[in-house]
Amino acid sequence: MLGVAGGIAAYKAVEVLRGLSESGCDVTVVPTQAALKFVGEPTWSALSGNPVATDVWTNSAQVPHVRLGQSADVVVIAPATADVLARATHGIANDLLTNTLLTARCPVVMAPAMHTEMWVHPATQRNVVELRARGIIVLEPASGRLTGTDTGPGRLPDPSAIVDAVQDVLRRRPTNDLAGLKIVISAGGTHEALDPVRYIGNRSSGRQGVELARTAVSRGAHVTLVAAHMHVAPPAGVTVVNVSSADELHVAMREQNADVVVMAAAVADFKPDSEASMKIKKENLASDRVAFELVTTVDVLSSLVKERSGATPLIIGFAAETAHHHEHLLELGKAKLARKGCDLLVVNEVGSQEVFGSTENCVTILGNDGSAVQIERSSKAWVADALWDLVASRVSPVNPIE
Ligand code: CTP
Repeated sequence: MLGVAGGIAAYKAVEVLRGLSESGCDVTVVPTQAALKFVGEPTWSALSGNPVATDVWTNSAQVPHVRLGQSADVVVIAPATADVLARATHGIANDLLTNTLLTARCPVVMAPAMHTEMWVHPATQRNVVELRARGIIVLEPASGRLTGTDTGPGRLPDPSAIVDAVQDVLRRRPTNDLAGLKIVISAGGTHEALDPVRYIGNRSSGRQGVELARTAVSRGAHVTLVAAHMHVAPPAGVTVVNVSSADELHVAMREQNADVVVMAAAVADFKPDSEASMKIKKENLASDRVAFELVTTVDVLSSLVKERSGATPLIIGFAAETAHHHEHLLELGKAKLARKGCDLLVVNEVGSQEVFGSTENCVTILGNDGSAVQIERSSKAWVADALWDLVASRVSPVNPIE
């Protein structure tokens, strides 16, 4: 189902419809009344080859507000205006499109388009965080020329990128292959305190960990997220344990009795050798230079590997590396896998492309059996699912649900 909300970018949704139809989708278009002011009903019906559903009162014998959502394999909203994002967040169902969103149990992809001021407004940003936390895929809008002479983030993502995202979703098969497994995922980045107000930190957003948690839940796992200063909200359905420093993260991870452990957190490698109990005041400094002595932190991943008895839990590490070329990246990854002693290592190249905070990732997953699975640049959700595919092939589900 392609929902079209009332923004000027509705004309680009025509290209989205063409792309979806050409890739083999049978599309029913649900334009809002406002969308019909931009692009009329004949365009949608001619290009989709299907009748267009525009309100809850037409064909009421077929109960369209329930049937459309229940029968769709995927719902795509393009453009998703600020108004539709807000109504979807709050479960408001005052037209056919938003009714459908409430009845849909399939994946939902939203492609926002609006003016920059509306996109960056705290109300819209909060709504996006909430929708993503519920598992809805909200694409980042593109940046560039907007309707008037102004430019900035808020343009509808390229129609081909929207079609690709939908294809990604459709390729994923719903599965319960992690049913009954207890999975513990660390995510975010630790803070190592210098004094009560300052710390040494890193740029990890926690997004990959959140995608791992969300996808594991959707595959039937019980998930605990050990969260260190994440910039994104944890998904629904997971137990969250908040931690701050490497030491706290270590304690929290050791307390878990897991079948699978994923160390996706960026743990600080160094911490100040002592934390000042009072704020360090500039006026007390002897010069304009300040020296701190740093000591290494506990290597949580290695310590969890050393402490386990037998093959349980399955332990997965992440490696952020800067490399000269792909072979160099693999060498570094293999050396780290051997050093850490974990079962799988997800090797991430940082530096050449933005990884921190991005919704995309490009990784190679190395196994302690010598295997190497390369995942081309794709969404962090896709990377997460590829990792769970490997985990499912190594761990038997405790309580499979058919
Ligand atoms: N890790 C950890 N404890 C640390 C540092 C890292 O548990 N003190 C974990 C990370 O969560 C990740 C893996 O080790 O799963 C690799 O992290 P990375 O930063 O790539 O490697 P380092 O061990 O820190 O080595 P280096 O930075 O020298 O490459």
